[in-house]
This record gives sequence, structure tokens and C-alpha cells, in this order.
Amino acid sequence: MSKTLISARSLRKSYGKRNSKFEALRGVTLNIHEGESVAIIGKSGSGKSTLMHLLALLDKPTRGEITLNGHPTARLHARKLNAIRNKKFGFVFQSFFMNANDTVLNNVILPLKIAGVGYRERHRRAISALKTVDLDDKRNNKASDLSGGQKQRVCIARAIVNDPKVIFADEPTGNLDSATGDKIINLLFKLNHEKGITLIIVTHDQDLANKCQRQISIKDGRIVSDSSADVEQDDDGDEEIREIVAESEEDDDDDDATPDKFEGDNNIDGMLDQKHPVRHINIEEDEEDL
Ligand SMILES: Nc1ncnc2c1ncn2[C@@H]1O[C@H](COP(=O)(O)OP(=O)(O)OP(=O)(O)O)[C@@H](O)[C@H]1O
Ligand SMILES: [Mg+2]
Repeated sequence: MSKTLISARSLRKSYGKRNSKFEALRGVTLNIHEGESVAIIGKSGSGKSTLMHLLALLDKPTRGEITLNGHPTARLHARKLNAIRNKKFGFVFQSFFMNANDTVLNNVILPLKIAGVGYRERHRRAISALKTVDLDDKRNNKASDLSGGQKQRVCIARAIVNDPKVIFADEPTGNLDSATGDKIINLLFKLNHEKGITLIIVTHDQDLANKCQRQISIKDGRIVSDSSADVEQDDDGDEEIREIVAESEEDDDDDDATPDKFEGDNNIDGMLDQKHPVRHINIEEDEEDL
């Protein structure tokens, strides 16, 4: 089996206080391995999106621990978390979180801009990502002028433009007709097969869940079934993530330590918060698309 990328131990997440306290997750333990395609399924309100937000380091558990390549993430500085999300994770969420008034191209470029990629290179990469989702011809359109399926494809382009290790998709086909939904799904699995990108997909769609190697079923904040026999791995993991984490562990100044709740970034706009620009991104060249 491949390396463990994300490991969750006894995750609990409560919302609200006292009488209005609600336990959305009640002790979830799982390992996600590199290159896996994982479906998280369950009824509305069962805790799927909550779990995905925790795994994607967009929110913090009330209790429990998430490790990335074996490194605990709870005390990582906000800027390190932003760096990991920006460089290693891609997000495809149902509510599109796009800048509606900006062009399609600029929406896709945004993560690269945040990552500090130069003008020419980020244009080249964004156009290449738009070609992948077959939307290059719409690059100068306003994002608001696209159809729902096209917007979803722009989200995929934006999710892949930084060459992520993991794509988190929350109901990627919700509200789409089946033909457009199929296109989105094929695209995600192509990325999984060809580039080894790990897919974590929250879905109500049983057909989509069946396409994933692994199905995790959630009920009332607990895992009730997991099709994978989960074996603990002892490995070194992704080198760049290790570097980001190690660098953070060397930091002595604790004054910008991660706040209890990440600075309002429980959404894509927050994730793309430019307060903590990320530099030194390593982007593979793809001369074909020049
Ligand atoms: N910010 C919040 N404050 C209070 N309760 C919340 C909050 N976010 C989620 N919840 C509650 O936690 C539970 C799990 O929510 P979650 O969004 O994870 O469900 P879900 O499985 O993704 O559902 P759906 O399929 O409808 O998207 C729900 O009962 C929800 O009302
Ligand atoms: Mg949800």
C-alpha cells in the first residue's frame, strides 16, 4: 500500500456552547494514503463536510489530531498552513467561491499569484489548466457569465493549477446535469490516474462513490463503515511538506501561532487570503503548452 498522507486520530468537532452545543464529529480515526480516491458518504448533516474541512486543515478539531506525513498540524503557524493549502491542496466545492466579476483566467491565476509565481509563468500554467478542463475559449469571460457546470470546471482548473497532491471535492457534481457531472468526474479521476493526485470526495451520489477505490460512510459524526482495511504505514512522506513542517518546528517566535480558529478561512476565499503570500513555489515546466 502507498504512503500515509493524512492521518486523523479521534477527531471530535463541536459547534456552539452549552445548550446549543452540537457534536458534529464524535471520534473519527482514519488514514488517507497517497494516490487514493476516497468517497465520504452519508446523510445530510452526518458530518461529511465538517470532516473534509478538518482533513483539509481549513478548520481545527475540538479534540483529536491530524498529522500530515506524520507531522502534527495542530500547532502549525497560520502562514505554514496557508502554504500547505496553497501548494499541496486543491479545492472543488459546490459553492464556487469565485470572484464573479473577474475573468475566468484571473480566477484560475489567483493561487499562482499568491504563490508568488511570475507573470508569464502563471499565465502559461493557468491557460494549460483551462485547456485541461476544456474552457480555454472562455478565458476572458467574466466568471459570472458562465454556466454552473462551466463554473465547476473553472474551480477544477483552479484546484489543479498548483499541481496539488490532494484534491478535496465537496459534492462536485451537485446541481449539475448528469452529462456535465460525468465530465467533471472523468476529469477528477483522470487526474487521479495520470498524476497520482489523491481524491477525497464528499458525495451523495452512489455512482460516484462506487467509482472511488474506497468508501467511508459517516453517520451521526462517526465512521460506520470503511471499505479499506487501513494499515498504518511507516514512511517519510512528501519531501516538500516535510520541509514546510520542519521549518515551522524550527521557528522560535510563537507570536503568530495558529489561532484557535483559522483566521476566517473556513472557505476558499479565506484560503486564498493574501495576508501570507507564499514564495519559492516549484513548478514543473510543461513546454508543450507554451
Ligand atoms: N458552523 C456551524 N455551527 C453549528 N452547527 C454546524 C456548523 N456547521 C455544521 N454544523 C452542524 O453539524 C452537522 C454536520 O454538518 P456537515 O456540514 O458536516 O454535514 P454534511 O454531512 O456535510 O451534510 P450535507 O450533506 O447536508 O452537506 C449538522 O448538523 C450541521 O447543522
Ligand atoms: Mg456538506
